[in-house]
Amino acid sequence: MFQTLHETVEYITKKTNNFQPEIGIVLGTGLGGLVSEITVEFSLMYSNIPNFPISTLEFHSGKLLFGTLNGKKVIAMQGRLHYYEGYSMQQITFPIRVMKALGIKHLFVSNAAGSLNPDFKKGDLMVINDHINLQPESPLRGRNDADMGPRFPDMSNPYHQELIKKAMEISAAENITCHQGVYVSVTGPNLETKAEYKYLRIIGGDAVGMSTVPEVIVANHMSVPVFAISVLTDEGFPEVLQPVSLEEILATARAAEPKMTRILSQLISTL
Ligand code: HPA
Repeated sequence: MFQTLHETVEYITKKTNNFQPEIGIVLGTGLGGLVSEITVEFSLMYSNIPNFPISTLEFHSGKLLFGTLNGKKVIAMQGRLHYYEGYSMQQITFPIRVMKALGIKHLFVSNAAGSLNPDFKKGDLMVINDHINLQPESPLRGRNDADMGPRFPDMSNPYHQELIKKAMEISAAENITCHQGVYVSVTGPNLETKAEYKYLRIIGGDAVGMSTVPEVIVANHMSVPVFAISVLTDEGFPEVLQPVSLEEILATARAAEPKMTRILSQLISTL
């Protein structure tokens, strides 16, 4: 891993004139709007970066952006990678290793998720304050590289408390409905059955999605503080479950996106 990482970092450093980001951002499904707030200095296609996995989804554009957001130097993944696309957990989280090697001090992650909590409605936002990993594997499986992090990383506080508090203050000041809750990660790509939504609620979930947790585990492994936020794109309420399409999920994500962008943008400016 070290050798591969070194090669990728060397390529990026050369192509970006030794750009040193302070903040890493991973943008989720239908949530690329924050990109328009970034003054982009360099843009690299995943397909041109050595060892980078290529996003297989046409609605995920697959670019690594370097620039400034509210005066902060950021690196942003426009298009994330999912386990259901067929990559290994190590491949999905490789970009997070790269961001850390390039110097990020914080990681911001967004995603689209289904609501499990009857009080959290479609179109609302949810700051993730904890998670349950139901994906079949950990990205840390395999030999541990002690230079990157410990064999058994602590996960008692995987999301940065101070950032959560600030995000809640920003959303209140902006009159944005923003909850806090537990995100459950599943493999997908199918959505859940009624019985599964019921089960995910019973075990303690407030939202369910197909991403984020692998990246968060790897960031925690490397002691990078994380802030993560979900846009709730559909309601997984078993008694009244309606069929939902990708188009509807994307449309809801796009409609709610400006609210999320406002929170993230202000939150980043406080760092
Ligand atoms: N389930 C899983 N993943 C999702 C959902 C959902 O209902 N909505 C958006 N991503």
